[in-house]
Amino acid sequence: MNFRTIAAAVFAAMLVPLVGLAQTPSAPAPAAAPAPAAPKLYIPGLEQFMNVILTEHNKLWFAGAARNWPLAEYELGEIKEVMGDVQDHVPVFKNLPLAQMLDAVIVKEIADLEKAIEAKDFKKFVAGYDALNKACNACHAGTENAFIVIKRPTTPAFTNQDYAPRKK
Ligand code: HEC
Repeated sequence: MNFRTIAAAVFAAMLVPLVGLAQTPSAPAPAAAPAPAAPKLYIPGLEQFMNVILTEHNKLWFAGAARNWPLAEYELGEIKEVMGDVQDHVPVFKNLPLAQMLDAVIVKEIADLEKAIEAKDFKKFVAGYDALNKACNACHAGTENAFIVIKRPTTPAFTNQDYAPRKK
């Protein structure tokens, strides 16, 4: 065998596995195009949930002040709902058990305010509203957010919603 023959033989030997692969009937079918990635789920940051709560908290005050009890009940229900969303999506915040901390507010301050609204008792509503604010601020203080202070509003955040009870 001269060099050329050897080289040709070696080359042919190198090709065998490739040819073999290409001809194997059981070779895997070419991979299907990858499925498009599912759209990324958007979960608002905690501060976004809180800003929604702040809006409803403002509306709650003016609903109560106008003795619009169905609206007050609605706004408080929305606050409670967003708190539930926070429990579902941000149960732990900076290693703090946010879901449990919210539970305490839902069963105490929120529940008391629900009763005041149900009783259409404005004095109890005001006391309950102030107590809720204290609970908001206690949690802010407990999560190193003592600089976020909630208080009674003096003006409606929106002037295009009528708070007066609906005349029948
Ligand atoms: C269980 C704890 C907890 C309770 C109760 C709570 N908050 Fe918060 N709140 C937080 C935390 C934690 C932050 C900081 C979020 C961050 O850093 O992203 C915050 C932030 C905020 C902010 C700042 C958002 C911004 O972008 O300016 C507002 C406003 C706010 N809360 C309103 C309220 C109101 C109103 C209540 C009561 C009705 C309330 N919060 C009750 C934990 C709480």
